Amino acid sequence: MSQHLSGQGKETYVKNLFSSIAPKYDLLNSVLSLTRHKAWRRFAVSKSGLEPGRHALDVCCGTGDFAFELARRVGPDGSVVGVDFSSPMIEIARQKAICAGLGNVDFIEANACALPFADNSFDCVTVGFGLRNVADLKLAVSEMTRVVKPGGRIVNLEISQVRSPLLSLPWKLYFYGLTPRTASLFHARRGAYEYLPESVRRFMSREELAREMESCGLRDVHFHDLMFGAVCVHIGTKPDI
Ligand SMILES: C[S@@+](CC[C@H](N)C(=O)[O-])C[C@H]1O[C@@H](n2cnc3c(N)ncnc32)[C@H](O)[C@@H]1O
Repeated sequence: MSQHLSGQGKETYVKNLFSSIAPKYDLLNSVLSLTRHKAWRRFAVSKSGLEPGRHALDVCCGTGDFAFELARRVGPDGSVVGVDFSSPMIEIARQKAICAGLGNVDFIEANACALPFADNSFDCVTVGFGLRNVADLKLAVSEMTRVVKPGGRIVNLEISQVRSPLLSLPWKLYFYGLTPRTASLFHARRGAYEYLPESVRRFMSREELAREMESCGLRDVHFHDLMFGAVCVHIGTKPDI
């Protein structure tokens, strides 16, 4: 079970879990987010500061949707790399890129905590619903900061906690109560959607995450709430040398 995982144990659990649900991931994402996940990624990409012709990295890219949004933004003269440590997720991302005719995006199997890129390689680095899952968040954010160019942004999209006292209870009922049951209708591996609410419950607050990003060397760290805070986008900038 996922409850007390950390370090290598968490990494193995998370990798196996996402590999096992890879073929159902996109459908489950659409159902559980009530189809909002694409709009959230579009919003996050709008905060990337990217322009046509630029180079971006998407960490924990899963089946590629964040990377595709970035690829559309940087256009044919730009390029995007997606990395994930689950090969079934990466394989689906590659197939989707071919189907969408996107030639400016590439997918690589790699660990977020040891990115296989030189310092200052990308104009922007994004991560969507990924930091909650990595075994060492500080190391992953430090790696993202290392490979982004000075002046470039790190953009993180993540599930958070609804702030409105009025909406907090309905949200908790949906997210912590209905989510695992809805997922089970799609025959997702049971542990997978027990892990989802559990990982959100255990994850740091938006303010703690902002402080963690600052402690990794990012500046001007700020965040935007979406869906009354159910989803949050953090943005930080690597200082110019
Ligand atoms: C919830 S999915 C998010 C996928 C995608 N970013 C999206 O927006 O739909 C989390 C992904 O993070 C990947 N992941 C978790 N820890 C990782 C790590 N240390 N290195 C690389 N990928 C990791 C998992 O394999 C999974 O594909």
